[in-house]
Amino acid sequence: MPLPELISEIRDHGYAFLGGRDMRQLLLAAHPDGLADWPQFVASWNNLELDTYMADGGRYRLRRHATLSAAADARSVRREPHQPHFQSLAYNPLHGGIERWFEPVEEPVVRGATMQAVFAFCCTLFGELHPEHAWHIEMHQFRIEARGTQAGRPTPEGMHRDGVNYVLVLLTQRVNIASGTTTVQAAGGGPGLGSFTLTDPLDAAIVDDARVMHGVTPVEAIDPAQPAYRDVLVVTFRAR
Ligand SMILES: [Fe+2]
Repeated sequence: MPLPELISEIRDHGYAFLGGRDMRQLLLAAHPDGLADWPQFVASWNNLELDTYMADGGRYRLRRHATLSAAADARSVRREPHQPHFQSLAYNPLHGGIERWFEPVEEPVVRGATMQAVFAFCCTLFGELHPEHAWHIEMHQFRIEARGTQAGRPTPEGMHRDGVNYVLVLLTQRVNIASGTTTVQAAGGGPGLGSFTLTDPLDAAIVDDARVMHGVTPVEAIDPAQPAYRDVLVVTFRAR
């Protein structure tokens, strides 16, 4: 899908689902070396830390977090000093209202070709959709594990908005995982607008967070005797 088509799809519908092949082309168009470190990028999910803030007491979510910024119309980002992730209770009734500190994303991951391509792509896309704004950017690496017959919940808060302008969710890999379907719904409620299961590397969902809510169904192990996990990158852009 060429970038102009993606821009009109998000303008028209408030979200877009992209297959890995399309996403790959868009990332390579955004950055010539994009994806050069893809194997290392994917492997970095093996080094995440437990999320200890889970309201349900679950130990199935691992993560790292980074905060960055971009000037209006810039195509590159700057890393900001490490800081907590904060969501208001209105956006996250389960985990909002407090500053949550997570381990920082490792610097080589942020500086790597894949992440630089993702940032360049997001700056271009979101800059077209919402021009002339500097951005507060957050990057999250998430691993949701299913253990035995116990499901993992990618979005324990249910259908929600992140409280930003735009969200990119990109699958890095899923191993021995069934289900985990991403659904979107108009921000005011009503019927679902669409759903898509991120199954292949680089499969992606992009949402206009002011207009639509998103959620992901629980993930289950296909073979409960084997490790099972779903790894995603989430990047959010909020106008400053
Ligand atoms: Fe979210």
